[in-house]
Amino acid sequence: DWTTGNVIEEQVAAIREQVGDRRAICGLSGGVDSAVAAALVQKAIGSQLTCVYVDHGLMRQGETEQVEKDFVAATGVQLKVVDASERFLNALAGVSDPEEKRKIIGREFIRVFEQAQAEIIADEGPAVEFLVQGTLYPDVVESGGGTGAANIKSHHNVGGLPEDLEFQLVEPLRKLFKDEVRMVGQELGLPDEIVQRQPFPGPGLGIRIVGEVTKERLDLLREADAIAREELTAAGLDRDIWQCPVVLLADVRSVGVQGDGRTYGHPIVLRPVSSEDAMTADWSRLPYDVLSKISTRITNEVKDVNRVVLDVTSKPPGTIEWE
Ligand code: XMP
Repeated sequence: DWTTGNVIEEQVAAIREQVGDRRAICGLSGGVDSAVAAALVQKAIGSQLTCVYVDHGLMRQGETEQVEKDFVAATGVQLKVVDASERFLNALAGVSDPEEKRKIIGREFIRVFEQAQAEIIADEGPAVEFLVQGTLYPDVVESGGGTGAANIKSHHNVGGLPEDLEFQLVEPLRKLFKDEVRMVGQELGLPDEIVQRQPFPGPGLGIRIVGEVTKERLDLLREADAIAREELTAAGLDRDIWQCPVVLLADVRSVGVQGDGRTYGHPIVLRPVSSEDAMTADWSRLPYDVLSKISTRITNEVKDVNRVVLDVTSKPPGTIEWE
């Protein structure tokens, strides 16, 4: 019988069997999969697990706190938070090209994560042998895998890890689909904000600012995004749509009028989409009154934004994200 209770029991037993009395590390991204994987492993081996959360400063409002506070409160997990936002901002300074931004964010992420891993290993000794990953069934099928014998070798030119260090993977979600992962997460008592979270790209808001990424622009986009999410949730639409990227056109300005003055501000783009698997998508026909509310609030509340536009492009030809 498939029940979340059975899945949890079975996986807890399997993880205990695999890890024994050794130690494991898990990177948390703020997303559903890594959170549920970590919670399962925590349930199985408790303080033998250490989680690492790299704060790249590109998360949305409240997301880092959800990991640092709510996730820890719900699971009791041992968490190492690395605040690397300055480092990411410095690395991104002057860069506008989308692919270059992605490469920089990916590279810095690996460096910071491996540095944290090295520190944990230095603290806890050589018994750290396992790396927890939130691999789902569709990921396994897509990569043609399924043997379970995967061993990953750390990049040895970064982070100061021993050259021959190999982690064995612990992948407790390998047999599950996304909706099942959410049910397991719920049963494990994880906060709704994490379990029901919509897809969010690893490079975060860094690829939702068209133009150079700066602290000021991130703060502005975070405010606009928080308003859009708040209103979509209030209207009960957050679970109907696949996701709604909110994008700042930082290099574009247009003329507006507010109060009795002329403004020259930036546009915010709303990109609500419906999709089954993100491979194709259609723009969501959101109710006009909800769009109107979001637009009014963003232009009233967010400094330097004087226009809100709706992206009515399907995928293809548009991608879901703008970069
Ligand atoms: P696109 O923009 O290619 O996005 O239509 C498809 C889906 O993937 C998400 N996305 C990412 N997820 N790392 C991720 O983990 C990434 O670099 C990344 N880029 C895009 C996007 O939000 C959408 O759900």
